[in-house]
Amino acid sequence: MLEHLTEQPKDKILEIMSLFRADTRADKIDLGVGVYRNAQGVTPVMRAIKAAEHTLWEEQTSKAYVGLAGDPAYAEAMVDLILGPNAPKDRIAAAATPGGTGAVRQAFELIKMENPGATVWYSEPTWPNHVTILKHLGMTARTYRYFDDETRAVDFAGMMADLDAVKSGDIVLLHGCCHNPTGANLNLTEWQAVADLIVAKGATPMIDIAYQGFGDGLEEDAQGTRLIVAACPETLIAASCSKNFGIYRERTGLLIAVTPGADHRARAQATLNHLNRQNYSFPPDHGARLVTMILTDEALRADWQTELEEMRRGMLDLRTSLADELQRLTGSNRFGFLAQHRGMFSRLGASPDHVKAIREDHAIYMIGDSRLNIAGLNDDTVPVLAKAIAEVGV
Ligand code: LMR
Repeated sequence: MLEHLTEQPKDKILEIMSLFRADTRADKIDLGVGVYRNAQGVTPVMRAIKAAEHTLWEEQTSKAYVGLAGDPAYAEAMVDLILGPNAPKDRIAAAATPGGTGAVRQAFELIKMENPGATVWYSEPTWPNHVTILKHLGMTARTYRYFDDETRAVDFAGMMADLDAVKSGDIVLLHGCCHNPTGANLNLTEWQAVADLIVAKGATPMIDIAYQGFGDGLEEDAQGTRLIVAACPETLIAASCSKNFGIYRERTGLLIAVTPGADHRARAQATLNHLNRQNYSFPPDHGARLVTMILTDEALRADWQTELEEMRRGMLDLRTSLADELQRLTGSNRFGFLAQHRGMFSRLGASPDHVKAIREDHAIYMIGDSRLNIAGLNDDTVPVLAKAIAEVGV
């Protein structure tokens, strides 16, 4: 068997990571993988995480298993963070997962197991791993239009027209905020229209929320998700702590199932526990414990929010200066969308040849679909990128 393994398709994000590593030019700029970096190019351990780790090191007396769904206190704190004070707690089951990807995978497995005929509708484009996991699981999927290549904003009319074909029992996958890879997001009126459509069709929404706090603010970024939960009888939510707590390698995520009624909660919890047991048994605890400590301690939480807010504002400033610099260099406002987009990413709308030229001639690495990681920039590299974009003629 092992001598004739089939070659697996390359992941375009990981591919750019290796190309970047192999480049020996000293002034190379990495705008590829979605990892936050500060002005010094460092992905810092956040202060509150360090402090919580210190306390944990001093106080933790056992590494014995916690539970198949992780610590209920973690789920409670995260549900509170995402769904706020009006969370329908009596209808909610949740399980810790290895990162947001783990939550996405478990949600897809749940759908496959319980409703094998369902079609999963995802935005075109979406995070590539959504597509490949669905394919890996042999699930039926269809796309809906999302991004207008001309305006670089949401093609809302196209999205709604495509979603009109959703059938009862289908799943509509949405990005909670900071759409990856485009950076273009729904406004609240649009969220409401999507919620109404999902309810009218008898479909189930699934929300992937991996960047809460990176867009318009912690509360603001959760509004769409909260609106969906309030409107729809049931919702699946895959949440990640990788970015907003900066604990990427700790693999800290949560799958939330908002069931149609309190009497469905216990069965849903047992199902999530079962899925965890089948895939990896007990979920990792370290990151989840740090998140719980931070969210339930007033001082740690305040410090975390301050640092997160600094990161968010930093990214917004970089967006504005890049848009301004491009306006100066090109004499047009056609890159104004960069300041309108939110989160770590923007899709520039450059052709594959442009992306290649920017990489080969200017040592600037972005994903092949022209997604760039804004957090990979700093005040010195914004003009370098703007010049490269203007020079290759995007
Ligand atoms: C990204 O989109 O770059 C991140 O979510 C990292 C990943 O795992 O792809």
